[in-house]
Amino acid sequence: RDFDPLRWVHDARAGGYAVAGFNMHNDETTQALLQAAEQAEAPVFLQVGRAVIPHMGVRRAYEMTVRNAADSGARYAIHLDHGSWEEVLEAVRLGFDSIMFDAAHLPLAENIAATRRAVELCHHYGIPVEAELGKIPDVGAPVEWASYYTDVHEAERFVAETGVDLLAISAGVVHGVIPGLEQEPLAVNLIARIAETVPVPLVLHGISGVPDNEIKDAVAHGVHKMNGDTDLRHAFRSGVLQAWESGDRQLEEALDAGRLKMIDAAVAKFHAMGSAGTAGA
Ligand code: G3H
Ligand code: 13P
Ligand code: ZN
Ligand code: NA
Repeated sequence: RDFDPLRWVHDARAGGYAVAGFNMHNDETTQALLQAAEQAEAPVFLQVGRAVIPHMGVRRAYEMTVRNAADSGARYAIHLDHGSWEEVLEAVRLGFDSIMFDAAHLPLAENIAATRRAVELCHHYGIPVEAELGKIPDVGAPVEWASYYTDVHEAERFVAETGVDLLAISAGVVHGVIPGLEQEPLAVNLIARIAETVPVPLVLHGISGVPDNEIKDAVAHGVHKMNGDTDLRHAFRSGVLQAWESGDRQLEEALDAGRLKMIDAAVAKFHAMGSAGTAGA
């Protein structure tokens, strides 16, 4: 396919919106994301990530995505989410359109060295690279918010020394949704300072649980790719459960109900990010 997903994110920066990265989990969730993208006329990164990889491996997840997308009219890219070095190697071999290499758990100098190596490899094959600086807490971790934030000066150095195309930052998000815990308001002033300092577009992970007005605020302060998973998975599950509880249904009907709920949830996120309508003909 002849296209440039990095271009989409630069267009989003120029146009004042954000492109979505949503995680796929099986056939029906992949179809839901493609159908939502087509319906909303929004570009989408279909992400092969931390849930699906242990379940079926990078290759099967990739092949499943390719197969489901074969007759889709959506503007999509197949993206490795939070990849390790081994997963990056496999994704390059398979022909992923876009790759996130995640060494954010390492000390800065080691993160820089490992990320530069991933960038050199991926760029050799013309694949854009996203990398992360600052840690994004996982649900269940003790959350001392500020201790997770990305540092502005480190971000500047990280981008200059690694050559990454997209920088994922930590600014008050968590992966997943914390039941009962109020979401920290996003650190939008920090986002703005990093956006002014680094030349590449910023990515915000973990947007599930972040209210739409804060999603818009983050876009306005300089985020142009946003990753979401949990809210869409929950929508899928609610559709499945509803169909299930309403009587003696076939599994296929329940999966279909999940797919339809997930389409609605994804379309709503495209609208919150401002990308709806930007992939129109
Ligand atoms: O980014 C990694 C995973 O998608 C985290 O998502 O907390 O919803 O499992 P989760
Ligand atoms: P959420 O599940 O919080 O939306 O995070 C998803 C994510 O960041 C995938 O990379
Ligand atoms: Zn993430
Ligand atoms: Na979240």
